Amino acid sequence: ADALKIGIAGLGTVGASLVRILQERHEALATTCGRAIEITAVTARDRNRDRGVDLSAMTWHDDALSLAETADIDVFVELMGGAGEPALSAVKAALSRGVHVVTANKALLAAHGIALAGLAEEHGALLNYEAAVAGGIPVIKALRESLTGNTISRVYGIMNGTCNYILTKMEKEGLSFEACLKEAQRLGYAEADPAFDIEGNDTAHKLSILTSLAFGTAIAADDIYLEGITNISIDDIHAAADLGYRIKLLGVAQRTDSGIEQRVHPTMVPLESVIAQVDGVTNAVAIESDILGELLMVGPGAGGNATASAVLGDIADIAKSRPGAQHVPAFGRPVTALLPYKQAQIQ
Ligand code: NDP
Ligand code: HSE
Repeated sequence: ADALKIGIAGLGTVGASLVRILQERHEALATTCGRAIEITAVTARDRNRDRGVDLSAMTWHDDALSLAETADIDVFVELMGGAGEPALSAVKAALSRGVHVVTANKALLAAHGIALAGLAEEHGALLNYEAAVAGGIPVIKALRESLTGNTISRVYGIMNGTCNYILTKMEKEGLSFEACLKEAQRLGYAEADPAFDIEGNDTAHKLSILTSLAFGTAIAADDIYLEGITNISIDDIHAAADLGYRIKLLGVAQRTDSGIEQRVHPTMVPLESVIAQVDGVTNAVAIESDILGELLMVGPGAGGNATASAVLGDIADIAKSRPGAQHVPAFGRPVTALLPYKQAQIQ
């Protein structure tokens, strides 16, 4: 079969890891997928920056929109970040010409996910975003595919590696909040603007995506009670421990008698619970459903390799699919079958 041609916009922590892995595992992936995966086009802001990977065989584009609009590609991989430009226009441009999109950009999906899913459906393209929630943990696939037919009552967990890393380091190594955040940034865990991590917005973006998948509703990222970890002191952590608890930043979405409830806030969890033992950059997502029961997934939640692993899985899914194959809808069901969030609230 012809090689799958991909274009990558964004060559930072995640993008550079993805390029390296695709190059190192080129032969093995070709065997697994039944066709080679070739990176034909790339872009980032600074053409001259050394990214530790060989880009010489790829066409450099000066901007993401031109890559999405004109490059000879089957898949546009968006790894720049940001809910606005250029990510939004570039993803729209790719989908509008039937080019599949793989993205790790939860801010973009929280703001425009359903509109982009509609565009993908209209043009027969796939919109895959496993890396957008909980890094390498396959939670999107679980909700979108594996749990189809279950009625889900609750989704909750630790969805931000930076915050969990900070809370863990503060407790176990006695380091200051600022020192822990700096280290999380150095390790490539934090967002370009780390306020999104520590103020809880990143968890809220992820939760809003999971809510849509779990409850079959439109995304409502603004309808989330939001509190980050900026006010958590080492004294709070010790006081919680004295009472038998550990403080974790949780995202929780659940059905209640008055509709769907979404919230993000620091939570005291019992020391003996599995969630309390989830340390460092590790994430954990629990899903409660009627047929399966409780599913708990724990794994690396951020960082170049963990995230690139999920992006790679999404690309490989496309490489393995054959022309004319039925597509999995981006949010698990056709966009027209999603309930308006408000309607779900009063059901
Ligand atoms: P980085 O900041 O490390 O990399 C961003 C890349 O995008 C850089 O290569 C940058 O170019 C490029 N870029 C930024 N703005 C533009 C622009 N206007 N035009 C063209 N290129 C641009 O981010 P990450 O790799 O950490 O994150 C990428 C995406 O993945 C984000 O959506 C993030 O939320 C998401 N994500 C990240 C995870 C992580 O652990 N890091 C985990 C899960 C998701 P240049 O290098 O030249 O500055
Ligand atoms: N900044 C995010 C985090 C990256 O720390 O979890 C993974 O989405």
